[in-house]
Amino acid sequence: MTTHTDTSLPIGVFDSGVGGLTVLKAIREELPNENLVYLGDTARLPYGTKSTASIESYAKQATKKLREYNIKILVVACNTASAAAIDTLQQYLAPIPVIGVVEPGVEAAITASMGDSYLVLATEATVRLGAYSRAIKKRDLNAKVREQSCEMLVALAEEGWTSGHIADSIVRRYLLEAEDKTFKADSIILGCTHFPLLRDTISNIVGDVVVVDSAVTTAAVVRETLTSHKIMSMGKQSGTLKLLATDGTQRFARIGGNFLGQSLTAQNVQLVDL
Ligand code: DGL
Repeated sequence: MTTHTDTSLPIGVFDSGVGGLTVLKAIREELPNENLVYLGDTARLPYGTKSTASIESYAKQATKKLREYNIKILVVACNTASAAAIDTLQQYLAPIPVIGVVEPGVEAAITASMGDSYLVLATEATVRLGAYSRAIKKRDLNAKVREQSCEMLVALAEEGWTSGHIADSIVRRYLLEAEDKTFKADSIILGCTHFPLLRDTISNIVGDVVVVDSAVTTAAVVRETLTSHKIMSMGKQSGTLKLLATDGTQRFARIGGNFLGQSLTAQNVQLVDL
C-alpha cells in the first residue's frame, strides 16, 4: 500500500479555476521531476464573491477529491481558499502537509519592499478575511496595510484583456480607491491568482513601486517542505501533469493556456465531480 511518504506520489494543487495555473507553472519550473495533479473547481468559480462558509466547504470538497489521487502534499493555489480555509484543510489532511499562498506572498513582499506600506489587491472575500493584513503585521507590527478588492481584474484576466486602455483605466480606478493622502504603497501584493497576468500593466502605472506575487515563493516553500519531509521525487525524467476541472473543459483549456504559458486542448483536461 502507498503512503503519502512515497516520493513518486503527485503534488496536488487546487484553485477555484484556472488562476492557480500561475502557481502550478512556478512549481513545475522549480521542481520539474515532480508529478502534479491540478484541480480547478470551475463549476463553482468564482470563490472570491462567496461567503466564508461556502468557500470553506468547496475547498474541503476539492481537497477530498485530490486525496483520491494519493497526493503527498497539497498546495492551495487560490488566495481566497487559502485565506478562508487553510487551517481547516491542514487539520483535514494531516499528516499530509498543506501549503497556502498567503504566507509565501507576504514573505516575498517583505523581502522585496523598500518601505512598510503594503497594498494588497485581492478578491472581495480575501479582503474581508484580512489574512494578508494579519500575516504582514505578524512580521512587522508597524506596517501600514490596505487591502483593495478588485473583482473586475479577475474578469479582465480571464478575458485576456490584460493590457491596453481598458485594463489600464480599471487598474487606475482601483488604485485611486485604495490610495489617498494618508496612504501610498511602497509595495503591491498581487493577492489573487489571476493578477500576475496584469503585472506589466500594474507596474507601468505604479512605476518604482515593487509588485510581487506568491507563485515563485510558494514553489520555494513546496521545495523546502518536500525536503524536510523527505518526500522529494527521486525521478530523473520530467514529471507528469494531470489536469482536472469540475466544469467546462473547453473553456478551461482555452483560458488556462494563458495562465500556464502553454497551449492546452479540452482533451488535456478531465472532467470530475466533487
Ligand atoms: N483564485 C481566486 C483567488 O486567488 C480568484 C478567482 C476566484 O474568485 O475564485 O483568490
